[in-house]
Amino acid sequence: MKKTLAILLAAILMLGCMSFASAEAKTYKVGVSIYQYTDNFMTLYRNEIEAYFKSLETDDVKYEITMADGKNDMAEQTNQVRNFITQGMDVIILNLVQTSSADAVIDEIVDAGIPLVLINREPLAYDADGNTIDEAYEGILNNDKVCYVGADARQSGTFQGQMVVDLENHGDINGDGKVSYIMIEGDPENIDAQYRTEFSVKALTDAGIEVECLDDQVGNWDQTKGQELCANALSKYGEKIEVVFCNNDAMALGAATAITAADRKVGEDIYLLGVDALEEAVQLVKDGEMTGTVLNDHIGQSHKAVDVAVMLLNGEAIENYYWVDYVMVNKAYVDAQ
Ligand code: GAL
Repeated sequence: MKKTLAILLAAILMLGCMSFASAEAKTYKVGVSIYQYTDNFMTLYRNEIEAYFKSLETDDVKYEITMADGKNDMAEQTNQVRNFITQGMDVIILNLVQTSSADAVIDEIVDAGIPLVLINREPLAYDADGNTIDEAYEGILNNDKVCYVGADARQSGTFQGQMVVDLENHGDINGDGKVSYIMIEGDPENIDAQYRTEFSVKALTDAGIEVECLDDQVGNWDQTKGQELCANALSKYGEKIEVVFCNNDAMALGAATAITAADRKVGEDIYLLGVDALEEAVQLVKDGEMTGTVLNDHIGQSHKAVDVAVMLLNGEAIENYYWVDYVMVNKAYVDAQ
C-alpha cells in the first residue's frame, strides 16, 4: 500500500512538472528600428512585421518586439541599436537611416553576437577609393548571421519607364519627337532613389525614345515636398512637362494634387508615375489620375524578413541576400484585379 502510494505520488509529481514545462513558452526578444515612422511605405511595412510575428506565435514560442523610430537621425538610431545590444535582443531587424553607416552598425551588432536582418535600404558596396560599385556588400557577405532583405530598385525604375514606353504616343504628348520629363527623387543617398531615377529614363532611351530632363529635384520620399516641387515645376515649365516621374507614391500623390491644381489632366496632357502601390495611389491609377505605379511588396518583404529572423533564432543557416519582386501596376492590371 505504501509502495503504491509512493508510485502514485511520484507519477503526480512528474505529470505536474511536465505540464509546467509545456506551459512555459520561450520568449524571443526582437529589436526593430525603422529609419522614420512618418514614412508612408515603411509604416505599412513595420505594421506587417509586428502582425506577422504575432501570427507565428504558438503556445511554446512568443516574440517580444521592441520597435524604435530612427526619426531620420543616424545618431538616434545608433543609440537605439546600442540599447538593443544592452537589452540582450535575440535578433535585430534594421532599416538604416544612413546606409553609409552600415559598416559601423553591423560591426557593433556582430561583435555583440546578435544576428541581424537589414531591410529596405540596401547598403552600397564601395571600392578602395570609397566609390560605390555595383556589387554585394562585404559587411553582409562576410557574416553568416547578417543578411539583407529587399527588392531590386532597378526593376521598379524599369517598370516605371516601361509604362511610358507602352503608351500609344510613348509619352510624347506634343509630338516634338522627345519626351520631356521632370524627376522627383527620394533621399539621394538611397539606392532606391538612385536606381529608380536612372532606370526609369533608361527604359525610354533603351526603347529608342529621345528624352529631355526639365527638372530633377529631391523630395525625400515626402508627399508635401512632392506637391511643392511638382507645383513649382508646373508653373516654371507649364505645358512642356509631359511626364512626371516620382521615386515613390507619397511624392506622386503630392504631384497629383499639384497637377489637378494646375488644371492639367493625367492621361490627356501629362503622365504621372510612382512606386509602392499605396492604396491611395492604386485608386488614382484606377480613376485614371495616375498613369501607373509599381508594387513594392511590403507584405512579401516583411514576411521574408521575419521568416529569416526566425531561422536565425533557430540557429539555421541563411543566405546573405533575399530579393522580392516588384510588380508593374498600370490601369489594365488594376482593372483585372
Ligand atoms: C522605398 C519606398 C519609399 C520609401 C523608402 C524609404 O523602397 O519606395 O516610399 O519608403 O523606401 O527608404
